[in-house]
Amino acid sequence: MTATDSPLFQPLKMGALNLPNRVVMAPLTRNRAGPDNVPQALNVEYYRQRASAGLIISEATQICPEGVGYPSTPGIHSKAQVAGWKTVTDAVHAAGGRIVLQLWHVGRISHPSLQPDGQLPVAPSAIKPAGKALTYDGPQDFVTPRALEAHEIPGIIEQYRRAAENAKRAGFDGVEVHNANGYLLDQFLRDGSNHRSDEWGGSLENRMRLPTAVLEAVISVWGADRVGIRLSPSGTFNDMHDSDPDATFGTFIDRLSGYGLAYLHLMDPSDSDLRHGGSPLPAKHFRSRFSGALMVNAEYDGHKADAALRNGEADLVSFGRLFIANPDLPERLAQDAPLNTPDVDTFYGGDARGYTDYPALSAA
Ligand code: FNR
Repeated sequence: MTATDSPLFQPLKMGALNLPNRVVMAPLTRNRAGPDNVPQALNVEYYRQRASAGLIISEATQICPEGVGYPSTPGIHSKAQVAGWKTVTDAVHAAGGRIVLQLWHVGRISHPSLQPDGQLPVAPSAIKPAGKALTYDGPQDFVTPRALEAHEIPGIIEQYRRAAENAKRAGFDGVEVHNANGYLLDQFLRDGSNHRSDEWGGSLENRMRLPTAVLEAVISVWGADRVGIRLSPSGTFNDMHDSDPDATFGTFIDRLSGYGLAYLHLMDPSDSDLRHGGSPLPAKHFRSRFSGALMVNAEYDGHKADAALRNGEADLVSFGRLFIANPDLPERLAQDAPLNTPDVDTFYGGDARGYTDYPALSAA
């Protein structure tokens, strides 16, 4: 594979975003924000190093204090966080890159010790997920969340809208709505976690109501052509399941198709999903149901990504762990050069080690 012949290195105009290549940096939580969950100089350097990506999708970023689920993840709800993110976007732009913010509310995947006033996490329904929350005191059992009252839901939509405004103030090029991996919007969409009987649950139409309302609120700020959305139709992470994922996600994607979004970001089933009873529906299964740019993810290397584009299965590919370890991933893929190996022990939290010290090819 060389830069001249792989479709990975063809530019792509998707919505209002003009990408010089189709090698996208996937959203990656790294738990290295500063005090008060404010992005700091270390984060600036990490993103700056990766500016050759066709597009950077930021790590998941909480839209409000209640949206947090892990230690040291950044927010986009305070003035200081907006200012911190501005230093990141300025550095990425100065290095010639583009970056969108992933908007996040974890819902039930939190813990009272992370919440304002030690309150219970909120969710569509009071269903405790199996597993453990990651807290400042180490892993602790998830708790039974508090089901949101119907009258509170417009407030959540408004928090997304404000976060989208803050992302604009912080200089991002757009936003990605995190509707994947068992967090709040995914909890509303799937019937394993949404047992509500009001207009926000029950029928698929009702379960789609919050995700679409959030999307429309975010579009009201950015225009659809700078908004993407991420879905994990087969995902079992965070104890997720759905009785009919093909219908749930197929119908939701049909709906999304009408908005003129910048892109749809779909995750393939992982080995872990398949072991845990997730549906074996690959991203390409939904290809024909979405009219815009399709970004696919999970366990791609350069050759597999090249083949997916050549076969028309996707328009672009996001890379997670390979971008952690290879700040200059596009150049390495273009040259078919050796790749650095990601160090799992430094994925979540810590300092510059395993974060900004992976060498670029030119330095190796
Ligand atoms: C992730 N993933 C993830 N997904 C997401 O939507 N928002 C996030 O903040 C994160 N955070 C995160 C952190 C770390 C350390 C890992 C390894 C993964 C999932 C990620 O975007 C991607 O889907 C997976 O890494 C699979 O893609 P790769 O790594 O096989 O290319």
